[in-house]
Amino acid sequence: MASLVLPLLMMGVATGCAEEYPQSSISPHTDFAEIIHSLYVSIFWWSMLILAVVWVLLAWVIVKYRRKSEDEKPRQIRGHLGLEIGWTIGPALIVIAIAIPTIQAVFATQQPVADDAMTVEVTGHQFWWEFHYPEQGVTTANELWLPVDQPVNLRLESNDVIHSFWVPKLGGKRDLNPVPAVREGQDPKYNWLYFTPRETGVFMGQCAEFCGQSHALMAMRVVVETEEGFQDWIDRWFASEGADFPGDPEPEEPELQMPGMDPDDEPDETQVAAEDEDPLVALGRETFLNSTCIACHGVEGTAAQGVIAPNLTLFGARKTLGAGIMENNQENLVRWIIDPQGIKAAVAMPGTEYPGGNWPATGLSDEEVEAVAAYLLSLK
Ligand code: CUA
Repeated sequence: MASLVLPLLMMGVATGCAEEYPQSSISPHTDFAEIIHSLYVSIFWWSMLILAVVWVLLAWVIVKYRRKSEDEKPRQIRGHLGLEIGWTIGPALIVIAIAIPTIQAVFATQQPVADDAMTVEVTGHQFWWEFHYPEQGVTTANELWLPVDQPVNLRLESNDVIHSFWVPKLGGKRDLNPVPAVREGQDPKYNWLYFTPRETGVFMGQCAEFCGQSHALMAMRVVVETEEGFQDWIDRWFASEGADFPGDPEPEEPELQMPGMDPDDEPDETQVAAEDEDPLVALGRETFLNSTCIACHGVEGTAAQGVIAPNLTLFGARKTLGAGIMENNQENLVRWIIDPQGIKAAVAMPGTEYPGGNWPATGLSDEEVEAVAAYLLSLK
């Protein structure tokens, strides 16, 4: 009896410990995740039913057909037509009962996209996530911002190998494939993922397809905001640089003017504000904008227009760096800029003394690294 009690007790303890896990797949927060979850729950109860039937029969057989004496021999039988038909038809009916909602769920999660859905182009890279909002003209990395109750249509593709988008509370997994070239006149074949977030919050996600050495270090966050909160984020994205920036680009055409291009401009309040700017941040901006960093990274409203590495606009507002692997603060960012590959194997970014991917070492001094980190964290 003790051999049964202990496992049962441990099972109770284990399930009792279940708190709110950040990547729980049984805590749906979108229509998509609810469909998957209801399927999971129904299959769970079918399994429980089968388990109960098997255990009750097993217990009954064990008790009823115990050998009562040393020389007792059970009644010998061969075949039982009724039983055989029963255990063939029974499971077949159960499989059909599970297949019907499963097929319905497949269609429900592949339904045509609503006309008012917001598109986000998601691109997987070794080893980070790029999110481009074509309607808003915004590009960001590793933190996907979405408005609540707004259908969103994610267009999934990969820049290199196959990755998989998976934010368990919201939806997925769905693969990001390199999109094969097509003949003229044909449409490229993207994977799409379509859902409507039901509540605000921060949801954790993870690449779910082995994509190389740092696959396990390819995490993401989805920030579901109110409509106003999302719009505010978009507005801040366009204003993150410039507000306290000498030679501030004109707001109406930010991409046409570079910092410092208008020395003749009348001093205005933006230039006054710049005077109280932290000198470390100012040095960091100058260093960053004159370094090889900008060959790969972009910051809206500046000369940094690189597109092959994570866009760093509003970088200081991100919770984590390196695609969700550590807290985004000065100390970690300095370590990252000095030696990204020591923290995350096979990352394409060069360090201060070591090349990375196809890029030579940046050669930044310790003081310059501190300054660049302070500048990037000021972008929020
Ligand atoms: Cu990307 Cu695994």
